[in-house]
Amino acid sequence: MKTIKVNTGRPYEVLIGENILPNVGELVKKVIKAERLLIVTDDIVNSLYTGIVAESLAKSGYQVEIFVIENGEQSKCLSVYGAILDFLADSGYTRKDAIIALGGGVVGDLAGFVAATYLRGIEFVQIPTTLLAQIDSSVGGKTAIDLEAGKNLVGAFWQPSLVIADVLTLNTLPCKEIENGLGELIKYACLIGGEAYELVAKGYQKDTLRAVELSVAYKRDIVEADEREGGVRRLLNLGHTVAHGIEKLSSYTFTHGKAVACGIMAIANAEHRKGTLSSEDYYKIKELYATYNLDYSLPYSIKDICEVAKVDKKAEAKDINLVVIKGIGNCTIEKMELSKLKEYLK
Ligand SMILES: NC(=O)c1ccc[n+]([C@@H]2O[C@H](COP(=O)([O-])OP(=O)(O)OC[C@H]3O[C@@H](n4cnc5c(N)ncnc54)[C@H](O)[C@@H]3O)[C@@H](O)[C@H]2O)c1
Repeated sequence: MKTIKVNTGRPYEVLIGENILPNVGELVKKVIKAERLLIVTDDIVNSLYTGIVAESLAKSGYQVEIFVIENGEQSKCLSVYGAILDFLADSGYTRKDAIIALGGGVVGDLAGFVAATYLRGIEFVQIPTTLLAQIDSSVGGKTAIDLEAGKNLVGAFWQPSLVIADVLTLNTLPCKEIENGLGELIKYACLIGGEAYELVAKGYQKDTLRAVELSVAYKRDIVEADEREGGVRRLLNLGHTVAHGIEKLSSYTFTHGKAVACGIMAIANAEHRKGTLSSEDYYKIKELYATYNLDYSLPYSIKDICEVAKVDKKAEAKDINLVVIKGIGNCTIEKMELSKLKEYLK
């Protein structure tokens, strides 16, 4: 098992291993002094993994209850958030109790936001079970729910007390969800370069644990340097300007990770055209997509995508912080006038 220490305002560890779910109880016990734990999970993950997690936690002496939400982004909403809060309050959960977020990024963001706000904040543990959640969303303390007006509009920075990523849970993920995680994995390969790029280019499944470890270690470094996304943390938004446009235009039927993959390639195309990304690295990035048979063609026109970016930034913002690829392992944040985005992406 690998341990990555995250030294944010509230420090915590990310444990990454194979078949560690049966030991969740003893791992949590070292960190959480609570008597009661509420496992928040979705219906699919519930049928696969709640039994083993709940049993292990109970063996370690915790009183365990389970709150199951419907799987999917639509559950990251005010009504489900309110329902979990009501359950906690009606059941008498106190500040000494804690939440276990068992599932993908939806469960992690939602349960994390409940933890951040119930009684002004209680402890929570992330047990991510999707590729996207293991390499990205479970680390860094961003929690949120969506509003009708848009995604992640209400949230808090609230670090977990522990993250436990069992890579064997990825074996039950459907192809669509693997593809969803690949966008973020390619993002880390481009940001980190070196071993991370080589591993993703070869096929991350050859060493999933190492791929998760490298991504998390990079995110840890970034989050430690900039916990609240005032500067360098924006690097993690590589591909996201275009991705948000695609997601919004598709009314969120286009998955986030796939949209990020399209967004990264749009940036690579633009930088290669400008001559700032070498042909060698440009074709290497294209190879990454070929390895996974990923389609990176934009599903909407650049004009429409840029219109969404403008609306997102509201009238007063003239500039955007765009993450650009100067080389594999060499990405930077550049301020760009919104009016120039269309010309840049062409
Ligand atoms: N907080 C952050 O920093 C951050 C970063 C990136 C994305 N996000 C958020 O993450 C969310 C997307 O997360 P996601 O892609 O994990 O989606 P998700 O949580 O909806 O999970 C995808 C699907 O996979 C199923 N599933 C989960 N684990 C499984 C397993 N092991 N086997 C079989 N099925 C399984 C779920 O039931 C669901 O149907 C979005 O809401 C996004 O905004 C947050």
